[in-house]
Amino acid sequence: MTSTKPAPTLFDPAVANDPYPFYAYLRREAPVAPLGLMDLWGIARHEDVLRVLRDPETFSSVVGQRVPGMEELPSMLFNDPPIHTRLRGLIAKAFTPRVVELQRESIAARARELIDAMLAKPDPDIVLDLAYPLPVMVIAHMLGVADGDHATFKRWSDAIIENVAPILLTGDDSALSGVNQEFDAYFSKRLAKLRREPEENLLSELVHVETDEGKLTELELLMFCRLLLVAGNETTTGLIVNATRAFSEHPDVLARVRADLSLLPAALEEALRYYAPFPATFRRTTRDVEIGGATIPKDTRVLVFLASANRDERAFEKPDEFRLDRGTNRHVAFGMGIHYCVGAPLARLEAEVALRDLLPRISAVSISPDQDAALLRPGGPKSLRVGFSMARASA
Ligand code: HEM
Repeated sequence: MTSTKPAPTLFDPAVANDPYPFYAYLRREAPVAPLGLMDLWGIARHEDVLRVLRDPETFSSVVGQRVPGMEELPSMLFNDPPIHTRLRGLIAKAFTPRVVELQRESIAARARELIDAMLAKPDPDIVLDLAYPLPVMVIAHMLGVADGDHATFKRWSDAIIENVAPILLTGDDSALSGVNQEFDAYFSKRLAKLRREPEENLLSELVHVETDEGKLTELELLMFCRLLLVAGNETTTGLIVNATRAFSEHPDVLARVRADLSLLPAALEEALRYYAPFPATFRRTTRDVEIGGATIPKDTRVLVFLASANRDERAFEKPDEFRLDRGTNRHVAFGMGIHYCVGAPLARLEAEVALRDLLPRISAVSISPDQDAALLRPGGPKSLRVGFSMARASA
C-alpha cells in the first residue's frame, strides 16, 4: 500500500514532545536508516540496539568531532578500550554499593525537606521543586561540596548540561571555557585537601583508589567530576518526573503501589522502560557494517534509540501497557555492555527514597495536558506543574 503522507522525521515539533509514535514508525518502516541530519543514522529495534551496544569494536563511543590541536579529554563515556577500561576499572572500585548506600540517609533528609516545601505550595512543580534539585544536591554531597557552595555548583552544572550536545557535535568547547576554569580551580583545591585528609565521600574514594592500572590522574579526576554532572543529574530528574507522569496516567498503578510500597522498585523499572529518561545515545561505526538488513558505511554516527527499544513489540509483551508484573524487565534505559550506567544503583536509590516519602502523602497526581512533555529531551521538561490530591492523614 502506498501512502501520500510524508514520512515523520526526528525534527517535527510534535516528535520532540512525544517521540513514541515516531519510534513505532521507525521500528516498523525504517529500523536502521539515515535520519536526514548530517551523517546520522538511527537504530530503533531492541535486538539491533543490543547488538550495537555490545560491539564497541564496530560501534565506537568516540563520537565527538575532534578539533585539531585541541586536547583529548579522558572521558570514560566518550572513549573505547583500552582508555575506557582503565577509567571504568578505577571508577567502579570507588563507586561501590557501600558508597551508594552511604547516601541513603542524606537523600532521605533532603527529599523530605524538598517534598515538605513542594506540598505546601499552591502550585507545585515536580521538576523545579523536587526532581531537579535532589540529584544536584546528592552529587554535590558525594563530591564533598560545602553547603555554602551549592549555588555556584548548580550554576556550573546547568552550564555544562546545556552545552554538552553542541560540544559533542562540533568538538568546540570554548563556550564553557570560563566555567571549566572555575570548576577545575575549585576541584583542584578540593583534590589537594583530600590527598592530605581523606573524607567519607565518593571524591575522596576516587582520589585514593588504586588498581594494577595505577591511580586516577588529576585531569582524569576533574573530567570525572564533570561527567557526573552531565550523566547523573538530569537523567535522574527524568526518572522521578517520568514515574510521576506514569502515576498520573495510570491511577490504578498509583493506588496499587501506595497500598503496597514493596511494588515501588517494579514500578520504577517499568517507568524506566516506559519513558526512558535518556532516550538515545551515540556511536560511530569503525567499518562498513550490516545490521537489521541495511549496511551502514564506515565512520557514520549512529543514534541508538534506547527509548524505542524499550517499546519494541518484538521484545516486550504489550509494550504500550504500564505493568507491574513484567518480572525481569529487559529495558535498556541504563544502556548495556561496557558503558552500562555506573550510576544506576544511585539513580534507583534516589527515585525510590523520594517516592517512598511522597506516595503515602498523596492519593492522586494530575498533570494538565497543556504543558510540554519534552519526552525527547534527556531529563524531560525544565518545568512541570502538577496537582496533588493529599492523602487523608493516617492515625
Ligand atoms: C535514571 C537515571 C540515569 C539514566 C537513565 C542513565 C542512563 C545512562 C546510559 C544510557 C548510559 C550509557 C550511555 C552509553 O552507552 O553511551 C549511562 C552511562 C553513564 N552514567 Fe548514567 N544514567 C542515569 C543516572 C546516572 C547517575 C546518577 C550517575 C552518576 C552519579 C550516572 C553516571 C554515568 C556514567 C559515569 C556513565 C558512563 C559509563 C561508561 O562510559 O562506562 N548515571 N547512563
